[in-house]
Amino acid sequence: MSSLLNQLHSLRAQAQQDIAQADSLEGLETLRVRYLGRKDGQLTKILQALPSLSPEEKKVLGREANEAKISLETALNEKKGAIEEKTLNAVLSAAAGQDLTLPESPLSVGRRHPLAQVMDDIVGCFLRLGFNLAEGPEVETDFNNFTALNHPPDHPARDSHDTFYVKNFRDGEGLPLLLRTHTSPVQIRHMQTHKPPLSIVAPGRVFRHEAVDATHSFVFHQVEGLAVDVDISVADLKGVLGLFARHVFGSNVEIRFRPAYFPFVEPGIEVDISCTLCEGKGCRVCKQTGWVEMLGAGMVNPNVFRAVGYDPDKVTGYAFGIGVERVAMFKYGVDDMRLFFENDVRFLRQVSR
Ligand code: DAH
Repeated sequence: MSSLLNQLHSLRAQAQQDIAQADSLEGLETLRVRYLGRKDGQLTKILQALPSLSPEEKKVLGREANEAKISLETALNEKKGAIEEKTLNAVLSAAAGQDLTLPESPLSVGRRHPLAQVMDDIVGCFLRLGFNLAEGPEVETDFNNFTALNHPPDHPARDSHDTFYVKNFRDGEGLPLLLRTHTSPVQIRHMQTHKPPLSIVAPGRVFRHEAVDATHSFVFHQVEGLAVDVDISVADLKGVLGLFARHVFGSNVEIRFRPAYFPFVEPGIEVDISCTLCEGKGCRVCKQTGWVEMLGAGMVNPNVFRAVGYDPDKVTGYAFGIGVERVAMFKYGVDDMRLFFENDVRFLRQVSR
């Protein structure tokens, strides 16, 4: 019995000393568990001897153990308060001379450029429909940009794209390389390296040698689409473009097809969407027609299939080319394309999320 009491006294003395020396809240917690822990604490271990003692001895050891517990708990709490106060004082003295009540300076967060957002939105819509992403270089061969897309060498449609030629660099035929005038050459690259069935979207920058004004720029963005399989029809094209239009412009928009000419498709189609600004009633933007021209599309011309080694008797396909700036201008009601390139943050903040 007296050895148990001795153990208790030395435990209490040792614990007091350890607590006095502790200098962190974690250290204090370790001590609490070591001395007062319910399961393996040292006090609990001493009390395990209680059942073997006489009633008188139980009373003495029990009382002493209780006192030790209360005094150690008090010491732990006091030390905890002291450590917390010390930490706070350290923070305050580090901030000495600063006014902690001043409001923080406003933090402005950057975000994606509106054109990048619109492009992501368009591409994301097609990816969710099961299209794959394809990309091609901005410097192209004459073959990929024109010839394979059914513009023969002397075809007048070449003139409708005012092309930037890259001086002193030529392709395998000795023809000058050029800055691609549209994203359609990605179709050619993809078909040359893949077999049908396939469906891709190809976003990217394109270049034309033209003067900059409210609706023209020498650099702009397109998203090209292409699907090839057996029995692909205009109905497939119309379905997919309808989904695209509702995704980008809202669930109420309608689309309409008008015949048009592009060398690489037959029939060629211009796609209009119903004007969301006036809901089809007629306004300045839709020039009172209720419709806005939005993109070019069509069924892949057999000559294009021949150029990439596909058999036009076995497969059919549709293609489309979406002008990203056009979509962005209409979506945000902006009538001058230059605003998207000037990057005045006051403008960018109005037209981006
Ligand atoms: N490449 C055309 C342009 O830049 C746009 C276009 C029209 C792409 C019809 C297509 C298409 O794939 O089928 O003007």
